[in-house]
This record gives sequence, C-alpha cells and structure tokens, in this order.
Amino acid sequence: MKVVGSLDAMRAARASLPDPLGLVPTMGFLHEGHLSLVRHARAECASVAASIFVNPTQFAPTEDLSSYPRDLDRDLEMLEAEGVDLVWTPSEDEMYPAGFQTWVTVETLTRPLEGAHRPGHFRGVTTVVAKLFNAFQPQRAYFGQKDAQQAVVVRCMAMDLDFPLQVIICPTVREADGLAMSSRNSYFDPQQRQAAVVLFQALSRASEAFDSGEREADKLRQLMTETLAGEELARLEYISVAHPDTLEELSGPIDSGLLSMAVFIGKVRLIDNMLVGEQRES
Ligand code: PAJ
Repeated sequence: MKVVGSLDAMRAARASLPDPLGLVPTMGFLHEGHLSLVRHARAECASVAASIFVNPTQFAPTEDLSSYPRDLDRDLEMLEAEGVDLVWTPSEDEMYPAGFQTWVTVETLTRPLEGAHRPGHFRGVTTVVAKLFNAFQPQRAYFGQKDAQQAVVVRCMAMDLDFPLQVIICPTVREADGLAMSSRNSYFDPQQRQAAVVLFQALSRASEAFDSGEREADKLRQLMTETLAGEELARLEYISVAHPDTLEELSGPIDSGLLSMAVFIGKVRLIDNMLVGEQRES
C-alpha cells in the first residue's frame, strides 16, 4: 500500500494503478462503516484508493474540527489489512493553498435537513469531494447511507458536473445494539453511549409501523418524536420524513420515504436514518 501526502505524488501513484479504480473518501478515525465501503470497492474494482482528510471547510466555527478524533497510524494499518492500494493524506495547505476561492455548491438538495442546521457544510463537502474526484479520477466512488443527504448531494454533483464515475451508496453499518457506527461515538461516556441507541430505536419503531401498514408521514414523525422524548439525555434537533430523492418533507400518506434525524446526546451531535418503502438500486 502506497501512502502519499502531496498531490503530485498521489497523481503519479494513481497513474500506475489499473482501472477501474474505486475511491473511498474519509475523514479518518476509521471503523467498520468505513471498512465496509473499502470491501465493496475491493470486491468490484481492480484497484482501491482511500483519502484521509479532516476537511476544515465542512465544519462550522462552532463545530468539533479541533477535537475531531484522529489516529493515522491505526487508520493506515486498517486500510493495509483490507488490501487498499493507495492512500492520500493531504495537508490542509495541499488541499486549500493560499488564494483558494472556488467552491462547488449543490442548491436545492442542500437546503433542508443537515443543510438547514449546518450552514456551509455541504459546500465544504461537495468542494472537497469534487477535488478528490479530479485528483484520483476514479471510475467508482463509495459513500455510506449513514450520511443519507451527503449521498444524495454527492450523486447530484457528480451527475451535474459530468464526472465520469459511478457513485455507489453502501448500507449503514451498526453496532450490536443498533447504534450507527461513527467516529464521533468515541466521544461518549458509558451512560451517553447507552442513551445513543435511542436514534435507532426511534427509526426502527417508525419503520416497523410503516411495514405494518402505517402510511401517514405525520404519524411516523410522531412515533419517532415520542421515542426520543423517552430518553432524557437526548435533545432533538430535527426529525424528518422526506422524499428519498428530492429530500422534500412529506405529509399525508406515503409509498416510500427517508426517515432521518439529528439528535444531541450531551455535546455530541448524532445523525441517523432509515429508508422505508420502495428502495432504489444504487
Ligand atoms: P466520514 O464521516 O469519515 O465518512 C466517510 C464515509 O464513510 C462516508 O461516505 C460515510 O457515509 C461513510 N460512513 C460513515 N459511517 C458509516 C456507517 N456506520 N456505515 C456505513 N458507512 C458509513 O463523510 C465524510 O467522512 C466526509 O464528509 C467526506 C465524504 C470524506 C468529505 O470530507
């Protein structure tokens, strides 16, 4: 496995990798969720590359950029064990040199949900992902359903800007009790860790109600809200039943939907989601 820091070294190493190349962009502090993307890529591509870059432009000044967990040596060991061919670990200066002023913005899809609560977040995501696509020129790029809006937004950007690649969305990997794996789970004390399962419980309750015939979006939102209200360490930021493609909030009876939420447990902000109804192929 080659590990490179500069863009030039990355391009040189990429040039000798066989196509199709699968790319897995990450911010590091890897867990089984990230590794599942790598495994999908390994199974489908001739070569696999990953990036590790805690992207400052997708964090608001009030967010956890400086405390975001990092462990590069461990990350590299994990990627090596999964048979990754190339890892790029750019510095902030390499990614955003002095004078940088070009941004990629996806419009309507970034307004609701995370976009409404994290102004500028998706501008940072789409800009860095566009730069990664340009740098690696992968034929396939792998993202997690865990970040459902990010997946929809990145897919839209790739289509709108004619990136010649396929965006592949892989299922959310969960802990044994259902908590979605996240680098931010490492912030929890044991009591908070136990409380954090309430997101999965709320989503499961609504999803099971849907499967038993409940079609009213308002009722599904109410079931999730009620479940969260039962956990005193949880502070709800938003709860949503939205169209899986347009992300518009739904009301009345639905055939399919993206159930999603953002919840604070202490100072840690968690997101999670489940799709109900007709599922699209990725
Ligand atoms: P990061 O949070 O490190 O996640 C990297 C990728 O792993 C994303 O596609 C995310 O959806 C996926 N992922 C995270 N947890 C997962 C889980 N439990 N199951 C399945 N997939 C999971 O998302 C980012 O980084 C950044 O925004 C990035 C795309 C790298 C741009 O900076």
